[in-house]
Amino acid sequence: MSTLTATQFRARFPIFNRRIYVNSCSQGALSLDVEAALREYTDSWHAEGSPWELWVEKTEELRTAFAASIGADREEIAVVPSASGGINAIASALDFRGVRSHVVMGEFEFPTMAHVWLAHERRGASIRWARAEGDRLGMDAYAAVVDERTLIVPATHVCFRNGHKTDIAALTALCHARGAYVFLDDYQRTGSGPIDVRALGVDFMVTGCLKYQIAMAGIAFLYVRRELIDQLEPTITGWFGRVNPFAFRIDEIDWSSTASRFESGTPPVPNAYAALGGLRLLDSIGYDVVGRQVERLVERYRSAMHAGGFVVRTPAEPARRGPLVVVQSLDAPALVSRLAGRGIVASSRGNGLRVSFHAYNNEADVDAVVAAMEAESALLERAVRSV
Ligand SMILES: Cc1ncc(COP(=O)(O)O)c(C=O)c1O
Repeated sequence: MSTLTATQFRARFPIFNRRIYVNSCSQGALSLDVEAALREYTDSWHAEGSPWELWVEKTEELRTAFAASIGADREEIAVVPSASGGINAIASALDFRGVRSHVVMGEFEFPTMAHVWLAHERRGASIRWARAEGDRLGMDAYAAVVDERTLIVPATHVCFRNGHKTDIAALTALCHARGAYVFLDDYQRTGSGPIDVRALGVDFMVTGCLKYQIAMAGIAFLYVRRELIDQLEPTITGWFGRVNPFAFRIDEIDWSSTASRFESGTPPVPNAYAALGGLRLLDSIGYDVVGRQVERLVERYRSAMHAGGFVVRTPAEPARRGPLVVVQSLDAPALVSRLAGRGIVASSRGNGLRVSFHAYNNEADVDAVVAAMEAESALLERAVRSV
């Protein structure tokens, strides 16, 4: 249940007194709440010196809060330092020597997803690509390559380059019918609206805290579907992957019966404080409210850019897009700095100008970005329209 209105929520982010911030796809804005959470960590350090029990407990609190936010059980969540860390742990636990050795990836993956699986080619993995057509990646592209040799299909939910959103429930149905696992990368979406990981049906999921979960770098989550946990023994491991890390055994390796078996070293404690601050703040507005606000702003911005005759790379259908809208520029890095000169924080990938929305943004932000883009239209590509 929401306890904060959208206006009260926005007021938690001081940057809006100085800037129009539309860069959550890169880094969420800093809230007073996350700042206070970090202070709580340093205060505990000052006050007690080495309160490890408290710090480990805080990480457990975070595990529980995150699990609830995606509709999972806490036992299905590993707290890891980065999405890469979670992907590596799963990849290291898989055996590519059997009939199923193919890893099928779409061309919209974030580089780290590709790099981890490419690194496993030396262990027998074979990468197969689901090819995109421009900024479109349909189910047919996956259907053409997922088969009885496919072990796993890592798939980003929203593409960091063009804002395209893949139909993960459909992909899961396709892959499971053909006996393959699905590994969702939800980094460009988690926190920007509700998510039900069970309804999506995926086997694994990674996401991290620094974007729409409005916290900071250094902490991320891996979800592993309960039925798979005890079938997997990662070779990328460490003492926090044990049944009881504080048993300090060095003569044997036991595997936690929960997803914490995919963790390795000392948890990122300061980041856990910050992440919990972010999740609590999101709870206080509510994911449904966040999702509706984001969708409204995305529609307002996307349709204004389209109507202005610019090349919008993000799909028009609400079901096929996330919180990020990408417009084609002739020189996107130059456009980013021109926008910065107008008080707008955005980002670019290639010649795509990225603008992304969260519940802290409002209609006035959208209109200011649209006006600035029109003023800088010499740096934007024009759509060729048939008459
Ligand atoms: C889709 C996606 N996956 C993963 C990451 C980052 O992964 P890591 O936490 O390993 O740095 C990003 C960051 O930009 C991303 O956009």
